[in-house]
Amino acid sequence: MPTNPLPRLLASLAIISLISAAIGLILPRVSDLPAVAPLHMILALGVMPLILGAISYFIPVLTRTSSPEPLVLLSPIGALIAGLLVTLSLSLTYKLYPVAAGIAVLAAGRLLWWSQQRAKATLGRPHPGLLWYQLALGALILGLLIITLAALWPEQWLPLKRLHLHINTLGFVGLTALGTLRVLLPTVGGFPDPQAGLWLMKEWRWLVAGTLLIATGATWSTLLAEIGLLLWLISLVRMIQGLLKAHQGKLWQWHGAAISLIAAVIGLVLSLISGALHGHGMLPTSQASEAFVIAFLLPLVTGAATHLLPLWLLQSQPEKQKQLREQLGYLSAVRGLAFLIAGVLTLASQPLAFLIAIAALCQFFIQLARPLEIAAIEDENSK
Ligand code: HEM
Repeated sequence: MPTNPLPRLLASLAIISLISAAIGLILPRVSDLPAVAPLHMILALGVMPLILGAISYFIPVLTRTSSPEPLVLLSPIGALIAGLLVTLSLSLTYKLYPVAAGIAVLAAGRLLWWSQQRAKATLGRPHPGLLWYQLALGALILGLLIITLAALWPEQWLPLKRLHLHINTLGFVGLTALGTLRVLLPTVGGFPDPQAGLWLMKEWRWLVAGTLLIATGATWSTLLAEIGLLLWLISLVRMIQGLLKAHQGKLWQWHGAAISLIAAVIGLVLSLISGALHGHGMLPTSQASEAFVIAFLLPLVTGAATHLLPLWLLQSQPEKQKQLREQLGYLSAVRGLAFLIAGVLTLASQPLAFLIAIAALCQFFIQLARPLEIAAIEDENSK
């Protein structure tokens, strides 16, 4: 029995998020469900608990404090329950969604409070990545309060929904992803990145401002949204250009987690551009959301899982972890490229997009089978 149950919970949440993504992409094609229900299966049931779990896992590292106490698990588990409830609610009856939002607010709020306790317990200053996670949790809470307000104020449904969707996708998922990537990329690429801390300390201002401008601008002023978009794009392009210039050889690989994570950043750029096209009425919401899932979330989750799943499944067995990483990261450049092509084809309304995305996801599932088997054998042996 592992002493710290969080890594095992995280491994389960990563697998749940990949399965939710596959089902969430298939459902709109085979059922009459409103598109928001499968979308929340991917974002709220799949991604939200995984992010809360990952934040719980990384906070002790960022604050150089002890492993999380078991009660911390309540946050990702609460988020999982909320994600299930909102998916059911958006499929059957909207009446229940404020309850789901309430549970998720409590889960995120508890984690935010705990992160602050750990920040106070840090000897010296906490790692600047902590602030990114706190901002992301703040964004999730804000996005959820806004969509709850929409239930009480139906005349403002559309503007409030737009605020919710932008604050959640960019503020919650975007900030968590970039804050993690900037630290994870040097680790998976195996190079020192002395600029990472400075980047994290400086860049969050632009991205928070960009998110607020896009969220409010999408509702009230296209110009504001475009300024926000520019802030995000400048930040992302500068980050990726800087990393590729200095560490091209380590990142530009056929196999491994790094190239998948780079594909995710390129996918985020694509999603931001598709969001702007949507803002100009050139693209329906469902297509822009699907491109966000396929081009950004899928390479992000498969890339992060390539590096982190072996760590979570086989704690303290570095040799075996390395072997599993090699298996999961096999041909990740092709997989990442497939997700990006599928993202572009989604924007062009090509049905082939879905097949390419599902094929790439299946390739990852097949590669996942062996690591899961090895972890199960290890569990048996350790009994
Ligand atoms: C418990 C958590 C959540 C609740 C209760 C919730 C609730 C809602 C509701 C009621 C809508 C409007 C549905 C409609 O227009 O018919 C909505 C839209 C949306 N939400 Fe959430 N949400 C949650 C979590 C999330 C998360 C975590 C994300 C993103 C990371 C997200 C992204 C979106 C998006 C993109 C839309 C717009 C979909 C569209 O118009 O096509 N939501 N949400």
